[in-house]
Amino acid sequence: MAQDFAPVADRLSADAEANRERLFELLRIPSVSADPAHRDDCRSAARWVRDLLQNAGCTAELVDTGTAERPGHPIVFAKTPPVAGAPTLLVYGHYDVQPPDPLDLWTTPPFEPAVRPGPGGTEHVYARGATDDKGQMLTHPLAVAAWHAAASGPPVNVTFVIEGEEEVGSDHLDEFLASHKDELACDAAVISDTSQFAPGVPAICYGLRGITACEVTVTGPKADLHSGLFGGAVANPANALAKIVAGLHDADGRVAVPGFYDAVIPPTDEERAAWADLPFDEAAFLETTGAPEPVTPPDATVLEGRWGWPTCDVNGLTSGYQGPGPKTIIPAKASAKISFRLVPDQDPNAILAAVREHVQSLCPPGVRVEVTPFHGTPGVRFDTDSAPFEAAQRAVEHAFGTAPVMIREGGTIPVVRALGETLGCPVLLLGWGQNSDGLHSPDERFSLDAFQRGALASARLMWEFSQV
Ligand code: BES
Ligand code: MN
Ligand code: MN
Repeated sequence: MAQDFAPVADRLSADAEANRERLFELLRIPSVSADPAHRDDCRSAARWVRDLLQNAGCTAELVDTGTAERPGHPIVFAKTPPVAGAPTLLVYGHYDVQPPDPLDLWTTPPFEPAVRPGPGGTEHVYARGATDDKGQMLTHPLAVAAWHAAASGPPVNVTFVIEGEEEVGSDHLDEFLASHKDELACDAAVISDTSQFAPGVPAICYGLRGITACEVTVTGPKADLHSGLFGGAVANPANALAKIVAGLHDADGRVAVPGFYDAVIPPTDEERAAWADLPFDEAAFLETTGAPEPVTPPDATVLEGRWGWPTCDVNGLTSGYQGPGPKTIIPAKASAKISFRLVPDQDPNAILAAVREHVQSLCPPGVRVEVTPFHGTPGVRFDTDSAPFEAAQRAVEHAFGTAPVMIREGGTIPVVRALGETLGCPVLLLGWGQNSDGLHSPDERFSLDAFQRGALASARLMWEFSQV
């Protein structure tokens, strides 16, 4: 028998204030996965999510990851009360956040959530993790909580996998997925860790870029040397690194690593036409980025450059004296953190191998260069004409009052590939945030209206799935 949805929607409205307070509680826990000093905070965040899910009627546990020598952050694994014969949704999200630095650029402290008007004058909560991913992720447990309160549980089976290592490459997730494969079987996975297309334009995302990241380290003299006494006879690692970095692109801005584009599947004509029809606001884009003008790959639009083509970006560059005033030295060392955003069918390992070789070939005499890999994951792209996508479309339209557009995104969520491969299920990327929410930046925020609508969309998706 079809369940009535109205009491669930009413419950979400009645609980709006309480649900905000819950979000603020989670935002106060500084679960920075990259920083060993925050290891206990990551565990606290995991416990907090587990407890919330238990209170929402789920069986929920923490699954430890890693080894004694190299411990990982725990995964929250939970299930709603079983509904025989009903489909199963798997919700993935992450409770870890990026480091909040630089702290002096925050208007209010990153782990003291503050509500104030954001873009468009609407209420936003400002805190690290507000949109990425605590605020977005939490909409799903809150939807289950509403179903629990209004109807003794959702009309479908919901499995939760909420991890704490997404921002550092999801190192232990594959192992977890492999060892829990049977318990994770599902009809579709749902992830709210992407963005809407624009304010008022909700979206379903059907593709993400992948990534391969590494550090290039150049060494030369055994210590910083006086540049007057030794300059002219000893090679400079910083000069060498600059040459290497400059050699990563050609004069037209293409990535110069040999073979880099061999496996690239360019956006199709159909996609390009659909993207050209989206209400892309270049002025808003420039406002968000603060950049003087867009710069794209040859012949690509801004959206094509962000969604359909791979990139190479220096993420950090370090060498020599960084304090005030001059210091005349030849630095002993120079290093660059570099990442490549990848599109289907580029293989992160093959790209890394090509990068190593290219970097070696660019290295001038008198210094040594080393490439240390961080993490890698391929890009993904799905077909969207399936029943789960249609159910998601209806749920988003129900909650946001307008039908979602179909987009790809330039960011990476490592689990997406693994979910498709290990579990073979469709993946629904339903983002409630905005790319202008300051993800990974100071003053990260999340619209409280989007938070409310996201929870409603999640609850409605559970209902839609129970109807098919
Ligand atoms: N939620 C983001 C990815 C994202 C954001 C995708 C907005 C699309 C739209 C995620 O938390 C993230 O930051 N991923 C990292 C992955 C990396 C650390 C392996 C990224 O993209 O840099
Ligand atoms: Mn995220
Ligand atoms: Mn992130």
